[in-house]
Amino acid sequence: MREWSRAERKRGHRIGLVPTMGFLHEAHLRLVDRARERADRVVLSSFVNPLQFGPREDFDHYPRDPARDRRLATERAVDCLFAPSTEALYAVDPVVRIAPGPMSDVLEGAARPGHFQGVLTVVAKLFHVVEPDIAVFGRKDFQQAMLVRRMVADLDFGLEVEIVPTVRELDGLAISSRNSYLGPDERRAALALSRALRAVEQAWRGGQADPKELERRGLEVLHAPGVAPEYLKLVGEDLRPVARADARTVVVVAAAVGGTRLIDNVVLGEGMANDIAVRAS
Ligand code: PAF
Repeated sequence: MREWSRAERKRGHRIGLVPTMGFLHEAHLRLVDRARERADRVVLSSFVNPLQFGPREDFDHYPRDPARDRRLATERAVDCLFAPSTEALYAVDPVVRIAPGPMSDVLEGAARPGHFQGVLTVVAKLFHVVEPDIAVFGRKDFQQAMLVRRMVADLDFGLEVEIVPTVRELDGLAISSRNSYLGPDERRAALALSRALRAVEQAWRGGQADPKELERRGLEVLHAPGVAPEYLKLVGEDLRPVARADARTVVVVAAAVGGTRLIDNVVLGEGMANDIAVRAS
């Protein structure tokens, strides 16, 4: 992989990396499109990273379809599909790992201990192996995107991180590989997450700036049949609670629907209308 990247760079090409865990969907392909706009060659990595799954999480059952991934990547003109085996990427269990620090103690990090250490460790490895000029991540995984950006800044990785708005189906559901776990009733119930975010956004546009009031409004909508809310919080880019909501405030939400944990978010000033809406494939 590194040889390929270095040869391309020697030819004067900028490399864009889209890191994924495979089972590609439209949201991944939008990241590919963005990488193509920003770079001359696009690398898509597909690797289900064991390090970021907890012992009771869905590593064994995580959806995988390498043949379909290959077809979709080819159709989207990805220049290089990098899909290493676990043995290749982790020849030995890494003893030295990336410590994500206090930004990982809250929200997803609190619910999934060790998750962000696993994410940042594999992302650092991918950056070292692929040596991209730019890496593109989705904003749906907001905490992940902020932590990757922070790692790149704090540890002087010489690359740019670009964060692309969330891709949603036309009814508002944020696209995620884990949506494939949802049955039809759960799929309907899952709309409570985007509805709750929209309710908060509307209340904020209506003049409410008190985070407690806005969180109360969001939770009211999130408490729907079949939905077990985990959190709905107003935070800044540092993931800390805000004292007053403004255009840069991000509303983050997590809830379980059936056995599936879903997350979503909206930046108040951008609003859900600016996210990308696509028809279900
Ligand atoms: O967002 C994901 O799919 C994964 O967390 C990532 C960034 C590919 C690391 O395994």
